[in-house]
Amino acid sequence: MKYAIVTGASKGLGEAITKRLFEEQMAVISVSRTENEELKKLAAEKGVNYRHFSCNLSLDKEIQEVFMEVAHVIFKGEPEEILLFNNAGVIEPIHTVGSLDQTPTIRNIKVNLIAPILITNLFLNKAQHTNTTIQVINVTSGAAVHPIEGWSVYCSSKAGLNMFTQTAALEQWELGTNHKIFAFSPGVMDTKMQETIRSSSQDAFKDLEKFIEFKEKNVLLKADVVAGALVDLVLSGTVESGKVYHINDLLK
Ligand SMILES: NC(=O)c1ccc[n+]([C@@H]2O[C@H](COP(=O)([O-])OP(=O)(O)OC[C@H]3O[C@@H](n4cnc5c(N)ncnc54)[C@H](OP(=O)(O)O)[C@@H]3O)[C@@H](O)[C@H]2O)c1
Repeated sequence: MKYAIVTGASKGLGEAITKRLFEEQMAVISVSRTENEELKKLAAEKGVNYRHFSCNLSLDKEIQEVFMEVAHVIFKGEPEEILLFNNAGVIEPIHTVGSLDQTPTIRNIKVNLIAPILITNLFLNKAQHTNTTIQVINVTSGAAVHPIEGWSVYCSSKAGLNMFTQTAALEQWELGTNHKIFAFSPGVMDTKMQETIRSSSQDAFKDLEKFIEFKEKNVLLKADVVAGALVDLVLSGTVESGKVYHINDLLK
């Protein structure tokens, strides 16, 4: 049996990934602060094994408690493979350096970088001495490699996530395991995160007009299209561990 864990499944890309996994009849564990009732209903209709765990990924104590329980639930079924989608993310704070508030700054690094590190570590640890293969999908951003004024914290957390992915993949290769860990950059998608970006102030975010135009000109990617391409890649068995994939590589 295969199991998927999707963080940030309540909205946006995470919700779309979860719906696509339901189509594959895959058992899914959703982790976020709020529960998406539509997913619960859909899983029941399709007869798919689905559970939601509430967790604030900016709190390390909650991460430890919740993911120990998630690991317990999953490993007792001796799964052949676990797909771990580290998808939850936050864009804020959107401000230039010198005007950053401490709380959202720390929260951003915790949700975007520390949580994926802790969760990946926990699952690779639990997989030792089992026959379970882990595939970790870290959802990153083009902002990891392109500095965007006003997004210094987001750019830094996603750059850190890319480096964590590459380093952990090298280690697993050296250890001779079958575990794979890769990053995926989804492009600019029509989700709540883009609403937050469009509601930022021109003073804080130089490219505001450009992002408002993306919406007006209808060039934002649909989350279900992006999720479809990602899940196809994950299930293809062709993933190159350590690679940072971009949606444009998959949609052409
Ligand atoms: N949208 C884009 O254009 C874009 C571009 C590049 C990369 N990305 C990346 O794609 C991923 C998904 O983004 P999205 O656009 O789908 O964002 P979104 O619509 O804003 O959804 C974010 C998800 O993250 C969860 N989340 C946020 N803070 C959390 C916390 N403290 N604890 C637990 N869960 C938390 C939210 O769940 P709750 O609120 O229920 O907790 C929600 O399900 C992110 O990693 C993002 O950085 C997005």
